[in-house]
Amino acid sequence: MNDTTPVPPASGLKANDLDAFWMPFTGNRQFKRAPRLFAGAEGMRYVTADGARVLDGTSGLWCVNAGHCRPKIVEAIRRQAGELDFAGTFQMGHPKAFECASRLVNMAPPGFDNVFFTNSGSEAVDTALKIAIAYHRVRGNASKTRLIGRERGYHGSNFGGMSVGGIAANRKLFGGAFIPGVDHLRHTHDLDRNAFSRGQPLYGAELADDLERLVTLHDASTIAAVIVEPVACSAGVLVPPQGYLERLAAICAKHDILLILDEVITAFGRLGAPFAAEYFGIRPDIITAAKGITNGAVPMGAVFVQGKIHDAFMTGPDAAIELYHGYTYSGHPLAAAACIATLDTLQEEGLLTRANELAPYWEEAVHSLKGMPHVIDVRNIGLIGAVEFEPIDGEPGKRAYDRFLEALRLGALVRATGDVIALAPPLIISKAEIDELIGIFTRALTSVRD
Ligand SMILES: Cc1ncc(COP(=O)(O)O)c(C=O)c1O
Repeated sequence: MNDTTPVPPASGLKANDLDAFWMPFTGNRQFKRAPRLFAGAEGMRYVTADGARVLDGTSGLWCVNAGHCRPKIVEAIRRQAGELDFAGTFQMGHPKAFECASRLVNMAPPGFDNVFFTNSGSEAVDTALKIAIAYHRVRGNASKTRLIGRERGYHGSNFGGMSVGGIAANRKLFGGAFIPGVDHLRHTHDLDRNAFSRGQPLYGAELADDLERLVTLHDASTIAAVIVEPVACSAGVLVPPQGYLERLAAICAKHDILLILDEVITAFGRLGAPFAAEYFGIRPDIITAAKGITNGAVPMGAVFVQGKIHDAFMTGPDAAIELYHGYTYSGHPLAAAACIATLDTLQEEGLLTRANELAPYWEEAVHSLKGMPHVIDVRNIGLIGAVEFEPIDGEPGKRAYDRFLEALRLGALVRATGDVIALAPPLIISKAEIDELIGIFTRALTSVRD
């Protein structure tokens, strides 16, 4: 079938119905020829527009940590929409935003006394980068403006996040239109030494020393911050080698470089601790979060900062604005209400640490995929798993994409990214549902022949 052949659309939708929405990170023409639509969801499952039930192996887009349409969260949003639809937080406020912030800092690792609200992970990242630069400036170090990301990192789609990000496909369309003064650490992916690692790979802590190379090149007096994901999920689940993050944190501290841990995916229980910083036992200066913060139900992002960073801005006349930055919807009432109800749900059901209990079972299940056709690596950490396929010559990504389609046909949502399939189910998943997910995926791997 060539590209122009019309395919009967699903569910009686006319082709035109799909035209207007320019979909993000999607092959629009291909999608619109054979659309895949979810119309409902509950707990561990989506329901398609055709009424089929699909096991959610990716928590939506890594965000629905407590499972879909949880009653407490749904009710909180409904109630809030009828009580206070909107109140800005520029020079005004509303109680839920403050309650939400207090709840969040009480859950955050020690020292994270303040939180700035955004509407997405991308905005959280750009906010964190700006705060880092401004922090050095208010302390009299105005030359510390350079930002260091990492190859294969993903920090969202805005200019700041794109610039510190290191996924080539996300960058190449935009020529040289990046923010200036950015450099990148080497990535940590090393199949030669670490293929089929269970949990953190053994080899690669020394890759953190790449930061010393950049310090030598640029001088620490020009570097504001390093930003990394604790587990680089969007680039195919790159689990940090043992000792790597600790070493990176130590080098940052030595040179007065802020460490921003981008926990947009890992915060709120994905690894078995509320935050990955605690899981790995490191102490970043700034943490970005989003996604699971409202269980995906209302857009929200957050930037957690150590008290020392916030306090450094609290100088000058009382009435002076300390940080010229913010969004109309920072701390939006619906997002705040959803966040509070999400934290209640996560805490009441023990979901912030549940991945810990499930991790050994999950690890066994995911690693049962070793030996399947074309599988060159299986990796896991917390309630995250990934399978990497040998790429097809000249068609990068096709192998994983075809298996994503086949798994969906068989009743499970998984996420294709490059030649990797990532798995990250809601934290409410049962052992029987883990078996079901891996069973469906195994069948998908067997039935696609290429
Ligand atoms: C680590 C990380 N940072 C930032 C983002 C961007 O978040 P958003 O899509 O909410 O803008 C993502 C999204 O997947 C992410 O994984």
